[in-house]
Amino acid sequence: MGRNTRTVIQGCVTRMNKKERLSFVEYHLKELLVPECRVLDLGCGTAQYRDSFKWIYVGLDITSLPYSDGFPRDVNVVASGSKLPFAEGSFNLIFSVAAFYQMPDSEMVLKECHRILKPGGQLLLFDYNRRTQRLLEKKEGHRLPCWNYWQLKRLFQKAYFKNIQWRSAVAASRTLFQQAISYWMSEWRGQWLIIKGNK
Ligand SMILES: C[S@@+](CC[C@H](N)C(=O)[O-])C[C@H]1O[C@@H](n2cnc3c(N)ncnc32)[C@H](O)[C@@H]1O
Repeated sequence: MGRNTRTVIQGCVTRMNKKERLSFVEYHLKELLVPECRVLDLGCGTAQYRDSFKWIYVGLDITSLPYSDGFPRDVNVVASGSKLPFAEGSFNLIFSVAAFYQMPDSEMVLKECHRILKPGGQLLLFDYNRRTQRLLEKKEGHRLPCWNYWQLKRLFQKAYFKNIQWRSAVAASRTLFQQAISYWMSEWRGQWLIIKGNK
């Protein structure tokens, strides 16, 4: 089994450590990159994906304060996802990992992303799926927003995104049957719900 296949299967069935998560996210981002790509990492936290890009990478977060002692954030721009301080058409690619569910005005965040993307630009969201949110809720003791693919797709549509696609967490999901299994796994087994849209 190739390294990529192993990586994405890990992402589907298990909780990932930091290194596995990095290659999982890189795997999904890599095919969306274009030459001279300008990339925005929305809710970047420690900006662990910064070195994955050889072109322009901007890490944005609502705060630049450290998570805790010895666990700093690495932020270029401090701002809210629902009020992005960039001109229209500033980025080719926006991605966000495990951050969208924390942003209170989700519809506005998506509209802002749409505004600052170049025509044809792409938004790729990795949000926690239902299973992960339920586990987090138990740990944190309060309700967390959570979408399934169809709900998130509707939100993307409201923000004028086109060509909205659910991204399989399993690389080799080609047939309808494989897609169905993969969809079920990504909703109920793995960690992620991954969705992409174009301006
Ligand atoms: C769970 S961390 C994920 C960080 C990073 N994306 C990663 O994968 O390591 C979520 C991040 O989203 C940021 N965040 C929460 N609400 C936000 C908002 N409204 N606008 C921008 N960033 C926000 C938090 O400050 C936090 O750094």
